[in-house]
Formats: sequence, C-alpha cells, structure tokens
Amino acid sequence: MRTKILKLLRDTKEYVSGQELCEKFGVSRTAVWKAVGQLKKEGYGIEAVQNKGYRLVSVPDVLSREEIISCMKTKRMGRNVVYLERTGSTNQDAKRLAEEGAQDGTLVVTDCQETGKGRRGRGWVSPPGINIYFTLLLRPQFQPDKASMLTLVMALSVAQAIERRTGYIPGIKWPNDIVMDGKKVCGILTEMTLEEEYIQSVVIGVGINVGQTDFPEEIKDKATSLALKCGTGTARSSLIAGIMERFEKNYALFEKNLDLSDLKDTYETYLVNKNREVRILDPAGEFEGRAEGINEKGELLIELPDGSVRRVYAGEVSVRGLYGYV
Ligand code: BTN
Repeated sequence: MRTKILKLLRDTKEYVSGQELCEKFGVSRTAVWKAVGQLKKEGYGIEAVQNKGYRLVSVPDVLSREEIISCMKTKRMGRNVVYLERTGSTNQDAKRLAEEGAQDGTLVVTDCQETGKGRRGRGWVSPPGINIYFTLLLRPQFQPDKASMLTLVMALSVAQAIERRTGYIPGIKWPNDIVMDGKKVCGILTEMTLEEEYIQSVVIGVGINVGQTDFPEEIKDKATSLALKCGTGTARSSLIAGIMERFEKNYALFEKNLDLSDLKDTYETYLVNKNREVRILDPAGEFEGRAEGINEKGELLIELPDGSVRRVYAGEVSVRGLYGYV
C-alpha cells in the first residue's frame, strides 16, 4: 500500500485527494492516512491540504526495495528487485541467482559490500549509507563475443542518468569508467557465465560514489563522488531507477543490430579520450597514439604516429592519458 501510494504521488507530482487514493486502491480513508503517516515517519515530505489532498514535496535518500520500485518506470530492466542491506558482492549474488533461474533484468542492490569486486582482481571500497552498488542480470540469446559491448552500453546509460539527475555532464573513460574532472566516480564490472558455448548469464555490476567524500589513501588522487562534484541531494533509489530506464532504451538499440552502431555517436559525446593522445597498456607491448573514437564493436580506434589506425579491444588492455589517469 505504502509503495503504491508513494508511486502515485511521485508520478502525479500534484495533489491527489484522499478519496481518489481510497478508490484507486480499494482501502479506507484511515488506511490511506496511516500509510501517509508511515511515509512521513520514514522522512518523505508529504503536504496534506484540506480539500486538495496529498502532495509529495521531498524524498529522503532512502535505499530500499520499495523505494527503488516506486521510482522504476521500466518494463523489463529492474522489474525484479532484490535488495540486501549488506552483502559480499552483488555480482556474486547475481551469479548465484542466475544459477537458481532468476529472470532476465533482475536487479540486485545493496547498501554495503564487504568484499566488493573491481576489475583486474582489485577490490571496490563499498561503505554503507552513502553510495550505489548494484548488479543487473541479463540472459542474452546472442553469441558470447558480443557481451563485452554491454559494458559500454551500461557506461553510456550511467553517464546519461547522472547528467539527467544532476545537470553535470560526466565523461566516459573508455571503455567504462565514468569520470568527472579527470577523477573516477563510477566503475563497472561485467562478468559472463557460459554453459558450453552459450551464454547462461551476463552480470553487469555498477559502483557509483554518491555521497562519499573521503577516500582511502591509495585512490585519493583518482576518485571523486557526486557529492564532491555536484553537491549533496542525489537520491540513490531514483538514480538507480534512472539508470535502468536509460539502459532499457539503449539495450533495445543494441539488440537491433547486436552492436553499437546506433549508440556509437552518443557514446562518443561522453568519451573523454576522443582526440587525445593516449598510452595503451597492452600486455603484448605498450604503445601510444591519438584516440579517434570507437567503432560499432566498441573497440577504441587509435591513430598511430605513422598514420595507420589500430583497433583496441577492451578485454586485455587499459588506457592512460599521457599526463595522467584520463
Ligand atoms: C572497477 O574496478 O572499475 C569496477 C568496479 C565495479 C564495482 C561494482 S559495485 C557493484 C558490483 N559488485 C561488485 O562486487 N562489483 C561491482
């Protein structure tokens, strides 16, 4: 009941009369009044005006299953939300749920990770109460070699949702770090499980520094947060729902051709490496060149000093600016 009332107030943005709420949900006025009281206790600002009804004026930064669902406007992504107060790693949880048969689009969200995983075997610092940690589970029908592109689809979706919610335009450091003023605000870890040569599941884990203002010594110079760059006030549940909305649209465009041809131009508007000199840290040998952009497979195109263009595949390499992280 609470969730339904909250969703209606959120979607309407205007006054909704008590009568309308009673009729819509088939409950008594007392039940509505109680549910509104409960929401107020949880920190929601709900104005009650005689002869007009109820209006939602502010939302607290609540991270809960109800809150996430009440913000969600999607049809496919994040329709099944699993919320855990605390966990090891949402990527691990999503992989386990996939084995147990969880549906495509299942979203695992937590407030705190004890063993958050980063790329290249690193960890992901995941303190409680301030940041976003979630994993989206997909069950694609396509060939495994396409899966690495999903990481770029998610990076684009996160960048667009952050821009929409905060008004601040972030950048994407290829393939999938979201940066603000040259510092990382979000990391993405995509993992695929195969059954023989078919994809059993792809899990896309996203960690966003939202309210964190202090970082451990070893990442201090490279990490930032939405609070540091755009001020406080980003409601986490609403941002997660915004990312799902964007991802659903972008994923549909990806599925049309099973590549990034319809997303490439938009992705490149966020790409901070574009037209910059970069060093490619390839285990087979480092090299330098100018990043031109990406192709429809999501590979980074590097113009080498001799004028030839080399394609770089996201899997094994990482990219550095010649003068720092970006
Ligand atoms: C990176 O190293 O840049 C990727 C970091 C990915 C972190 C997220 S937080 C939610 C999900 N669960 C994890 O254990 N990792 C990802």
